[in-house]
Amino acid sequence: MDEYLENNRSLWNGWTRLHKRSRFYDVEGFKAGKSSLEPLELEEVGDVEGKSLLHLQCHFGMDTLSWARRGARVAGADFSEEAITFARALSTDVHVPAEFVCSNVYDLPAALAGGRFDIVYTSYGVLSWLPELDPWAAVVAHFLKPGGFFYIAEYHPFVSMLGDDGRTFEYPYFHTPEPVKLHSTGSYAEPNAPGFSHTEYNWSHSLADVVNAVIRAGLRLEFLREFPYRPSTVLNAEKFEPGLVAPNGWQVELPHVFSLRATRESA
Ligand SMILES: C[S@@+](CC[C@H](N)C(=O)[O-])C[C@H]1O[C@@H](n2cnc3c(N)ncnc32)[C@H](O)[C@@H]1O
Repeated sequence: MDEYLENNRSLWNGWTRLHKRSRFYDVEGFKAGKSSLEPLELEEVGDVEGKSLLHLQCHFGMDTLSWARRGARVAGADFSEEAITFARALSTDVHVPAEFVCSNVYDLPAALAGGRFDIVYTSYGVLSWLPELDPWAAVVAHFLKPGGFFYIAEYHPFVSMLGDDGRTFEYPYFHTPEPVKLHSTGSYAEPNAPGFSHTEYNWSHSLADVVNAVIRAGLRLEFLREFPYRPSTVLNAEKFEPGLVAPNGWQVELPHVFSLRATRESA
């Protein structure tokens, strides 16, 4: 793994230690039965009863296990050992079976050999950690059964150009091979965590890059949707205005989230 990914992996190990006791993730609520899934993905993924589902970049598995509570047979994968260790412990604690695999997403076909799934799922805050989308989309296609589908709900790359004030453009829209290097403290879930300062490396991917990577991997696009709001419980919901007032007085809605569903055609 190269130095950027290794840096990010160690950051995610640290963030996992913060997140598992954060209000944002509300692990106790989850243990008591609360789902971590949003109405958007529940509606667009649909009924998962009896289906097999692979969750890419699953963090510590609350979404993965929430799908399992809805009747799916699930596997989750993430490159953070801390996250996967905690995901396995959560699965045991809540008596919901799941397979959790620790792997860089690009290496997952070797780490999770043999399995094919009805659904490959990933969501909110995943793509900016990936240097390249074509090999990622190839991994997605690799794990889909013929007739199965891929689903992603993700922060929109347009709004991801904005800095913390939600108004000033600070980051690129188009992909650059070299990542954006950021120094920050805390995490999105625990912004005031004392003593946690770090470097992170992020890559931008335009909406066209996402769509074309999925098409180049051989999947058939079912839909691409854009939404002018953020789901309630996800990142920075309260920090971002739903839109901006333009100098001419117009209320301009911004695309905060997109979702995409694509099918692997039956042979
Ligand atoms: C924002 S989180 C996932 C979001 C999920 N919706 C949640 O809140 O639980 C992003 C995840 O991607 C993982 N990740 C980042 N780069 C990765 C890579 N190259 N391979 C596998 N996992 C990666 C991180 O460890 C982290 O758990």
